[in-house]
Amino acid sequence: MEAQIGNKLLLVTPNCADLAKPNVEIKRFPDGETYVRIDEETEGKHVTVLHRCYPKQDSSLLQLLLIGNAVAPFAKSLTAVVPYLPYARQDKAWKTGEVKSAEIVCNLLVSSGYTNLVTYDCHFLKKGGEHKRDKLTILNKSMGKMLEDYLSRQIADDPVIVSPDSGAGYLVEGRGHAMKKVRGEYVTDDKTAYREVKELSMDFSVNGREVIVLDDMIAGGGTMERAVRLCIEAGAKTVRCGATHGLFLNFADQRIKEAGAQEVIASDTVQCPYSKVSIKEQLFTAPLSSFF
Ligand code: R5P
Repeated sequence: MEAQIGNKLLLVTPNCADLAKPNVEIKRFPDGETYVRIDEETEGKHVTVLHRCYPKQDSSLLQLLLIGNAVAPFAKSLTAVVPYLPYARQDKAWKTGEVKSAEIVCNLLVSSGYTNLVTYDCHFLKKGGEHKRDKLTILNKSMGKMLEDYLSRQIADDPVIVSPDSGAGYLVEGRGHAMKKVRGEYVTDDKTAYREVKELSMDFSVNGREVIVLDDMIAGGGTMERAVRLCIEAGAKTVRCGATHGLFLNFADQRIKEAGAQEVIASDTVQCPYSKVSIKEQLFTAPLSSFF
């Protein structure tokens, strides 16, 4: 992908080298702080920054904000493409004193000069397409169909397509069913804050069928593990799992396979050994290509 087409400029950070040619310099000062430099003419251009913000989400996010601040004073418009948006999971304050991190991240992007954000299966947006968050326009792309198509290759009969909760229901909308998930209270030790899955249920049959479970993400894996067990207990012939963002924390992949999953895949919004489908195809075709 050419960095420059007309008055459009694509800035690519080194952690997206698999998607396009990097042209942003990111280094560290001797004390560990972040140094960024853009050696491209940005004046009067519609600039798009392609940057992964996971792993190391705190420093990656800061890099994105610094790049925005370097470009915004000169660019005509500024778009961030962040395949997996960090902090998107905390969009509500459950307890007094908590913060809505998702909202703060959106505000930080705006204050760094970004007017548009393109992201994939973003946790706080419960459907695809265009959304407004104050001054930020967000395009939420979905990998649901690509994951499903990949997992369907091995399946002869019509599979049952399932999402493990209503939040991820739009990934299977018009093609499948959503389970009902209830999370419990925070399980909090000194270091982690996590709400376990308390209940998972479904009001549709998977008996004797091949099942594909699709979710926006596999983080701790509790959701997918429970979904696989539920399907198998309900008589599913096989269960295959796909998630847009594959974080696979604490051996989540092993636990999901031990629960009985025949296949587990993810996209490459987060690069991992399970990345079997790529956002690359979608990136450079309409409507996304209009940004580059
Ligand atoms: C929401 O609740 C999401 O759709 C995912 O199901 C969830 O974030 C997965 O988290 P975990 O893998 O930790 O259960």
